[in-house]
Amino acid sequence: MGRRATLRHSLVALIMMGMVALLAQAACGSDPASTGDEWAVGPTPRAATTAAASATPAHPGQANYVTHCAACHGVSGEGQPNWFVPGPDGLLPAPPHDNSGHTWHHGDGYLFQVTKRGGLAFVMPGQPSAMPGFDLAMSDAEIVEVLEYIKGFWGADEREFQRSASVGDPYP
Ligand code: HEC
Repeated sequence: MGRRATLRHSLVALIMMGMVALLAQAACGSDPASTGDEWAVGPTPRAATTAAASATPAHPGQANYVTHCAACHGVSGEGQPNWFVPGPDGLLPAPPHDNSGHTWHHGDGYLFQVTKRGGLAFVMPGQPSAMPGFDLAMSDAEIVEVLEYIKGFWGADEREFQRSASVGDPYP
């Protein structure tokens, strides 16, 4: 009887020790000073993941997007804050090219012409626009590549909507 009680006590003690160890592990995992290296262990070491990512070929339009568009429209097409409110100079900030904007509402032909000729060719007469024309900076083929790259920011529904909008308004 006495022996049984001791066994049961040591069992309880073991379980409690296990819980303490688990709690300590959880606390370490959420330590803000932690390096995050604990996530690198496992079947996919970080080095292997990086090698796989860099082996994926870049989209042909990506480099020109980063060079010519990202400063205003955002690296992921997120646009500028409050893009629908004109600034004190009367200029609209750059709209997003992702799902939250309206780039995907327009056909390929319109998107091509805005990019090639700039916003001034499209806004109401007398209204200013900060959207430059890229006629001199990029060939027509490069403009198409950049616009195709932007389509990667969209979801399936936005892509399908824009594909239909392009049927009557294709690239030139
Ligand atoms: C200097 C900032 C700036 C840069 C750089 C820029 N844009 Fe813009 N873009 C704008 C602004 C601002 C607008 C809104 C134009 C307006 O209504 O005045 C705009 C609008 C557009 C639109 C029309 C979107 C719509 O829904 O009507 C397209 C398409 C576009 N930009 C594509 C591009 C592409 C492609 C690049 C890079 C090749 C680029 N822009 C670079 C500022 C910029």
